[in-house]
Amino acid sequence: MVILILIGIVPCIIATNVVSRSYKNRAVSLRESSVKNQCDILRAHLDSEDYLNNLDSRVVNSELALLSNVYNGRIAIIDEDFKVVTDTYDVDIGKTSVSKEVVSCFESGKGTSQYDDRNDYIIMTFPIEVKSRVTGVLLISVSTNEIAQNARLLENRGLTVTVIASFVMLILGYILAGILVRPFMRVTHAIEDVTDGYQDEAISVPDYTETLQITTAFNQMLSRVRAMDSSRQDFVSNVSHELKTPLTSMKVLADSLNGQENVPVELYKEFMQDITQEIDRMNLMIQDLLTMVRLDKKAAVLNIEKTDVAWIIEAIIKRLRPIADKRGIKISFEKVVSVVAEVDASKLELALSNLIENAVKYNVDDGWVRVNLDADRKYFYVVISDSGVGIPEEEQEHIYERFYRGDKSHSTEIEGTGLGLAITKSVIVLLRGVIKVNSRPGEGSTFQVRIPLVRQT
Ligand SMILES: Nc1ncnc2c1ncn2[C@@H]1O[C@H](COP(=O)(O)OP(=O)(O)OP(=O)(O)O)[C@@H](O)[C@H]1O
Ligand SMILES: [Mg+2]
Repeated sequence: MVILILIGIVPCIIATNVVSRSYKNRAVSLRESSVKNQCDILRAHLDSEDYLNNLDSRVVNSELALLSNVYNGRIAIIDEDFKVVTDTYDVDIGKTSVSKEVVSCFESGKGTSQYDDRNDYIIMTFPIEVKSRVTGVLLISVSTNEIAQNARLLENRGLTVTVIASFVMLILGYILAGILVRPFMRVTHAIEDVTDGYQDEAISVPDYTETLQITTAFNQMLSRVRAMDSSRQDFVSNVSHELKTPLTSMKVLADSLNGQENVPVELYKEFMQDITQEIDRMNLMIQDLLTMVRLDKKAAVLNIEKTDVAWIIEAIIKRLRPIADKRGIKISFEKVVSVVAEVDASKLELALSNLIENAVKYNVDDGWVRVNLDADRKYFYVVISDSGVGIPEEEQEHIYERFYRGDKSHSTEIEGTGLGLAITKSVIVLLRGVIKVNSRPGEGSTFQVRIPLVRQT
């Protein structure tokens, strides 16, 4: 605000100064030319009256008196011997005058003019010539007091106007700032209310268009934060629940052993095996959780390198084959083209192995799993189909959620945490790819993955 007023005031002051100065200059030069005119007439009379030899000329003397009166100044005439012969102030008669102006006028035969700004007067000299010879000098000093007074008056007026204007500006600025800031204050209060937790819904400051965008953006951010918060809560409660289940069964097993007397060793062994299984399950889950947390981090570190995708798939199949063989499930792999892609090999392996593992896990005995690898110029495609139990339509949109497990998987007691596809999806998204599922209950499922061959940043 102060800066604004300064920006307003400084030019005002400068303008006032410039105006008063140019007025002064103009008035002084007008005064000079009017004095010069009068003096030219006077010089003609001096010449015609031969004044220097006839100092008593009444015509000239009265004209001198009149002029000095009109201009509120003093007129002196100096003869060839630098002697003052006439002085309207009657103080210097008979004295010698060798002032700079007089000497220069005698020497050059030209008049001079000098403005004394400080003492407010103009000194002018004019040569008195007889037959082109300078025989004397007319010296006139004219007061410019009233010009200076007028200029000062002008300055004062200007200053008064400036002061009044800045005062008005100050008040106007204050009022305007108040009006402009008000909507933002309201928004700030509304945001503060939300931060303090008074309000659980979106903020609303409907009366001002200026803040509409801010409130909209804030509300969008707020709803995202709330969504994140609720997903975090879901996650925590899911994790606790999932970790509690194996703990509960371990406790039941241990309690039942503790509650019995003379327990046969076989029973001990059996229960202990169950407990070990539960511990394995927990371990698996914690491992999956850690993987997911790592993938979740915004700047998940990707180790991008040229990777032979078929090689990864073959390794996964090799690992899963013994499990599949036990249930008579055949796994086949068809490589349409060789694919070398810029991907994070270990993360891709994680994603694909979850998919192939599911295809085996949710299959029927003596079923099949087919993996197909193809590519065009931009992407490579991995398609995993199985002859398994399939996924009902209504479950399909949930399978990528953390801890989501299909109804069948619960009821048929197939091991799993429900984190597998969540991890798979995260990896594929990180690799800028997409995943789609096609499935019918009882007929099997097909998962299609498409990932760019070249990593685009
Ligand atoms: N190929 C498939 N056939 C039938 N159902 C499937 C198939 N793949 C996934 N599902 C269903 O999707 C659910 C989620 O799969 P996801 O891989 O995320 O978890 P999971 O296999 O149960 O556990 P995890 O993989 O963490 O051990 C499964 O419980 C299952 O119901
Ligand atoms: Mg799985």
